[in-house]
Amino acid sequence: MDKETLLIHAARQTATAAHAVSVPLVRTSTTVFDSFDAYKKAQDGLVFDGPRYGRSGTSTTFELQRAMAQLADTETCIATSSGLAAITAVLAAHAGPARHILVSAGVYGPTRVFCDKELIPSGTEVEYFTPDADVSALLRETTSLVFVETPASLTMEMVDVPAVCAAAHARGVPVACDSTWGTPIFFDAHALGIDISVHAATKFINGHSDLLLGLITGTLDALAGVRAHCDRNGTHAAPDTCWLTLRGLRTLAVRMERHQSSALAVARWLRSRPAVQQVLYPALDTDPGHELWRSQFSGAAGPFTIELAPCSEDAFTRFIDRLTLFRLGTSWGGFESLVMPAVPHHLRALAMPADAPRLVRLHIGLESPRDLCDDLAPALSAMQHHPDTTLRD
Ligand SMILES: Cc1ncc(COP(=O)(O)O)c(C=O)c1O
Repeated sequence: MDKETLLIHAARQTATAAHAVSVPLVRTSTTVFDSFDAYKKAQDGLVFDGPRYGRSGTSTTFELQRAMAQLADTETCIATSSGLAAITAVLAAHAGPARHILVSAGVYGPTRVFCDKELIPSGTEVEYFTPDADVSALLRETTSLVFVETPASLTMEMVDVPAVCAAAHARGVPVACDSTWGTPIFFDAHALGIDISVHAATKFINGHSDLLLGLITGTLDALAGVRAHCDRNGTHAAPDTCWLTLRGLRTLAVRMERHQSSALAVARWLRSRPAVQQVLYPALDTDPGHELWRSQFSGAAGPFTIELAPCSEDAFTRFIDRLTLFRLGTSWGGFESLVMPAVPHHLRALAMPADAPRLVRLHIGLESPRDLCDDLAPALSAMQHHPDTTLRD
C-alpha cells in the first residue's frame, strides 16, 4: 500500500468496532481486565500494545502507535508527552557511567542541553561530531548509541545516514535519529539503517499547532530499553493528544506535498533578493547537502534557514517587525508560517565576526506562496535600505 492510502486506513480497528470512521477517544486512568490471566499477562509486561494501566496508554494511544509503526515500516512505536521527552528517553535509556554516546553537532538545541546538563554530569561521555567526521574512528568499546539529526536544526547540514549506520553497526552500536523534519512521508529512516527514529509529532505529524507529542519507532528489540525507561519514568502521552495527532496524521501526505511546493517556491524567490546572502535548504540544487538529500529523502519539508546580509539590531528588528503573515515564534510544522531568529546552539560559544550574516529560520505554512513572498518583500526591502546593512557587491 502507498503511504497516502496507509495514512487513511491504518489503525482503525476500534473505529470499525464502534461503527465509526474515526477512532474513539478513550480516557481512563484505570484499566480493568476480563480475567486474572489477562491481568497477569499485562502486569508482567507481556502485552505492551494493549491495556495495562492508564499511564502506558488506552486503545486511542495504541491506534496511534500502530499507525505510526506501519507508516515507518517497522514493528512498534512509543508515544511520549513531547518530542523532547522522546529524545531524552532514547538518550537516557542508553546513558550511564562509563558509557559513551556520539551525537551529531547540529542537533536541536534542547537535545544538546540535555546531554550537557543531565547526561555528562551523571557520568555519560557525550561526544559531538561534525558532518565531515569519520564516525568509525570515533566509536569506542563503550559507545552505546550514535544519535543524529538530519538535516541539522537551523544550520541544515545533512548527515550521511547510511555511512553512519554502516560504521556503527559494524561495531554493534545502534543509531537513533531525530527524523522530525522529514517525517516518514519523506524520510524512510529504518530502510536507511536507523534503529530508533524519533519524531516531534508536535510539528508536521499533528500539523495543527495545538499540542505537543513525541513518537519513537523501531523494532521491538531496538525499543526494548527505551520502553522500559518510559515505563519507569512515566513518559507516556495522554489519550487526548494521541487522538488529535491521529486526526492530523490522516492528512499528513497532502500537507507535506503543499509545504514542499510552497517552501521551494519561496526559497527560490528568496535567492534573488539582494538582502539574502544564502538560502540553506537541501532541496535547492545550490545547497551543499543537496546530493545527500536526494539520495536519502523523497521530499523536503517546510522549514529552512536564510542568511541575511550583516546588519545592525535596528535593521534586523525592522525586518522581523515588518512581517505580518510570518508570525514570530519558535515552532514549525503547523499550518501557519513562522519566522524566528536562528542562533544555532552549537555555534553559540564561537565569537562571531561583526560582518557575520544574520540567520533566520522560516517555516513555510499552507498559505499561498505568493502572499508569503508579498509579506517578505517589504520586510527585506526595509532591511536592505537601512543604512546599517552591508550588502554584498
Ligand atoms: C528537530 C526537533 N526535534 C524535537 C523537537 C522537540 O519537540 P517538542 O517541542 O514536541 O518537545 C523540536 C522542537 O522544536 C525540534 O525542532
